[in-house]
Amino acid sequence: MAEFVRVAAVGDVPDPGSLVVEVDGELLALFHVEGTFHAIDDVCTHDGGPLASGELVGHKVACPRHGAKFDIRTGAALSMPAVRATRTHDVKVADGGVWIRLGRAQGVAGPAPQAAIPGPPPAGLPITAPTGGAAGPRAPAGLPGDHPAATTAGGDMGALCEDRVRELLRLVKDPELFVNIVDLGLIYGVTLTPSGDAPGKQHVAIDMTMTSPACPAGPQMIGDAKRTLGTHPEVAAVEVRIVMDPPWSPDRMTDDARDQLGIF
Ligand code: FES
Repeated sequence: MAEFVRVAAVGDVPDPGSLVVEVDGELLALFHVEGTFHAIDDVCTHDGGPLASGELVGHKVACPRHGAKFDIRTGAALSMPAVRATRTHDVKVADGGVWIRLGRAQGVAGPAPQAAIPGPPPAGLPITAPTGGAAGPRAPAGLPGDHPAATTAGGDMGALCEDRVRELLRLVKDPELFVNIVDLGLIYGVTLTPSGDAPGKQHVAIDMTMTSPACPAGPQMIGDAKRTLGTHPEVAAVEVRIVMDPPWSPDRMTDDARDQLGIF
């Protein structure tokens, strides 16, 4: 079992406050709240954001990149876009210092696989104030049009209607969560209007939201939605309108999406 390593003096971390520390080459976020220290990985499980520099309210810290919240006591992911817990570590106070031992079991889980987490941070970083984190690699998007539901037998895509639009949009996946945007609850509305320029075709307007205002996957999902809908022969044009009111919340997800994300 790993040994406790002294990482800071008790007075180095205000209460409430946080500090980035390094243990065995891993960057950890050390928090001091109500007289007690807690340590979690300084890596957001959504896309590698630096948790120590996030806003700390009580025992919740918000990732500064896209706002996912974590419980600093358990590591549990409390809000989207993170669905997986971050690792927690044992902490003790002795001889005027704060000591951390790596290797404690994963915190409360949302166990579903998610986008790749960036590799371990570079070793050798001294104890320091938090700095901006590096984004991890982006997962590839889904492949709209390759899905067997994209066409019916004989290549007939069926008449264009709202249900058909939603069916096509199910081929578009959030590239970080690997769940389609319909089951995630991102599609707020579909409007079909006869095209004035192309007789027999329709203008498709989609009201779409994001799991967070700064969702890095937004441009990719918008592009995929346009490309996918554009494959239907009755579509003259596609407009995607981003709507942030009402804000997205996890209760908009279907049971299928929850199953895929391991949220129960
Ligand atoms: S990297 Fe933390 S919420 Fe996206």
